[in-house]
Amino acid sequence: MFRFFSKPQAVTAHINDVAITVGPQETLLQAALREGIDFPHSCRVGGCAACKCQLLEGKVKELTQTGYILSDDELDRGFILACQSVPRTDVRIHVDTSARQARRRVSGRVVAQERLTHDIVELRVQLDESLPHKGGQFAQLSLAELPGVARSYSFATRAQPNAQVSFFVRQVPGGVFSSHVHAHPLVGSEVAVEGPHGDFWLRPAQAPLLLVAGGSGLAPVLALLQEALHEGVKRPVTLIFGARTQCDLYALEAIQDISLRWPDVFTFLPILSQEPQPSSWAGRLGLVTDLIPERLRPGSHAYLCGPPVMVDAATTLLLQHGVDRAHIHADRFTTLHDVPAAA
Ligand SMILES: Cc1cc2nc3c(=O)[nH]c(=O)nc-3n(C[C@H](O)[C@H](O)[C@H](O)COP(=O)(O)OP(=O)(O)OC[C@H]3O[C@@H](n4cnc5c(N)ncnc54)[C@H](O)[C@@H]3O)c2cc1C
Ligand code: FES
Repeated sequence: MFRFFSKPQAVTAHINDVAITVGPQETLLQAALREGIDFPHSCRVGGCAACKCQLLEGKVKELTQTGYILSDDELDRGFILACQSVPRTDVRIHVDTSARQARRRVSGRVVAQERLTHDIVELRVQLDESLPHKGGQFAQLSLAELPGVARSYSFATRAQPNAQVSFFVRQVPGGVFSSHVHAHPLVGSEVAVEGPHGDFWLRPAQAPLLLVAGGSGLAPVLALLQEALHEGVKRPVTLIFGARTQCDLYALEAIQDISLRWPDVFTFLPILSQEPQPSSWAGRLGLVTDLIPERLRPGSHAYLCGPPVMVDAATTLLLQHGVDRAHIHADRFTTLHDVPAAA
């Protein structure tokens, strides 16, 4: 007996009324960039939502679950991630390019490189001109000595009047950019910072704040808190910081400084998942998700940042505890390792 399988065909995508051809295994983003369309994007792996767009007509196959990164409202309105969507029929797409127009690429030099933990280095960069951004957003960082390599890193401080920006770069085993940052002295090196990107910033509200950070995910949370402090935000804060061991904790002075100046209740809860025993650690042991149910104040708005597995687990738990998806904001620090299998 013969079975006939229909071979996937190239289809046509209308992107803001410009027609392009999309190959059978291509994502909308790949096809748009190949055709020279200036489509907003950043991580390309479903982690930042920079490529979100509205599917007006047609069907796509999604390579990853987009439910974690898009709000219920966006999903209801047909939003998709172009980097994770392979069209199955002809499609019509609308993409908002206004945020892209606000982005700039600014050059600068590394003025400080400081080791914060065994696997996190802070890079401080003096930009040639200021790059306005909201506390919590991220940029595409590239080094002149690593041509063709650009990676997403969150601003670790609020926008500074002296045009200095900071990034916390965690070393990813086998990673091109982060390994270079960890292995070479970079003070004086030329860099380019392109941005700002991302939706991770503090929305105006009165609700208590639950902030959850894992590893280098503390960077945008610190920037968000600094900006909130600067703007006189007065809301109770619970900050949960997940790390493996005591050696992985950092920026504790910066957190203490914020907590002392914070005009409402500020609760800081570091929690360690792999602290060797016996240990001098008197704080909590476990995962950030162990603390969420007991520390979640009614009506909280949540901001989560760090490894995708942590962000996804925390999101699921918050939804189970009745937090509205519209009040869960997250940045998943995806890497190329998280690239989904080919369509
Ligand atoms: C919105 C956002 C914000 C971020 N902010 C930060 C931040 O503030 N701080 C921070 O430390 N990181 C952050 N990241 C992660 C960062 O962008 C980089 O992904 C990370 O530093 C790794 O870059 P790399 O060049 O060192 O590794 P890469 O060279 O990109 O490799 C990453 C990993 O993937 C593996 N790999 C490489 N190619 C493939 C492939 N084709 N298939 C499968 N695996 C592959 C490598 O072996 C390695 O383990 C952020 C990510 C996003 C999306
Ligand atoms: S570019 Fe598509 S989610 Fe980041």
